[in-house]
Amino acid sequence: MENIQDKTIIITGGGRGIGYSIVEELLRKGAKKIAIVDLPMSKDHEAVTTLKGKFGEERVIYFPCDITKTEDFKEIFKQIVRVLNGLDILINNAGLQNDNLVEQTFNINVIALIRGSLMALDYMGKHNGSKGGTIVNVASTAGIVPSPELSVYSASKFAVVAFGRNLEAFYNKTNVRILTLCPGLTKTKLAMDISTNTVLDFVDEEMVQSINTFTKQPCTHVANAAIDLIQKGENGTIMVVKNNEPPFAIKIPLYVCK
Ligand SMILES: NC(=O)c1ccc[n+]([C@@H]2O[C@H](COP(=O)([O-])OP(=O)(O)OC[C@H]3O[C@@H](n4cnc5c(N)ncnc54)[C@H](O)[C@@H]3O)[C@@H](O)[C@H]2O)c1
Repeated sequence: MENIQDKTIIITGGGRGIGYSIVEELLRKGAKKIAIVDLPMSKDHEAVTTLKGKFGEERVIYFPCDITKTEDFKEIFKQIVRVLNGLDILINNAGLQNDNLVEQTFNINVIALIRGSLMALDYMGKHNGSKGGTIVNVASTAGIVPSPELSVYSASKFAVVAFGRNLEAFYNKTNVRILTLCPGLTKTKLAMDISTNTVLDFVDEEMVQSINTFTKQPCTHVANAAIDLIQKGENGTIMVVKNNEPPFAIKIPLYVCK
């Protein structure tokens, strides 16, 4: 069982929603320092001020950055590792749902997540002389089950799941666990904003409306599942947390295609 106590952590998109709840829970569990990388917005400053007030000035540091700007992200990452004096856990959480913004969706949900993972492997990997660590990638249930009403978003999340399923193979070399969290609909701005404007124009309005009528689980439920995953998940674990039910790990069958 991995202890969260005294760990140094980077989380992208920790300024609100699921990311914010994960930060709160990690701090409650004794994380030493958490670097929140999020877009430069005043609301995120407020979120960080609240967290500092609750858990201590030193334990939360906000690094404003658009993670789709690769060079900025690399620079901030270096800076964070210096400030934190090491890195134990990276949580790639930032995400976007807007199927009309195809490039942006993939830039945030996939490319920035891959970039972040590669930088974390560089810093934490045993193959580079470090001790190892943990990467948590936030995918979605739409990353394991086709979700035609959100085809672009779903494809980006399938890519996240696929990336983790490939990276996990290097565990013996890197000593970095690759964990994937797949939340179902959760009460956040991202889910509340799903509308006919954020889906492709041929998606039936009823499909969108049906998403809006689904019950959305609270962020705290997903955050608890994330903590559980970090504490107990073996390398390669894919964990589903949906409908406010207890989380469970899944195995995706391997097909031999040679
Ligand atoms: N809410 C859901 O129903 C749901 C379901 C499954 C998976 N997810 C995933 O959970 C993760 C968190 O989403 P959420 O629902 O909390 O959404 P949210 O919109 O509330 O939060 C997303 C966060 O990411 C940040 N972000 C977005 N683009 C960024 C960028 N370019 N650079 C830096 N930060 C950026 C935002 O500022 C925000 O703080 C996402 O990966 C999302 O795809 C959400």
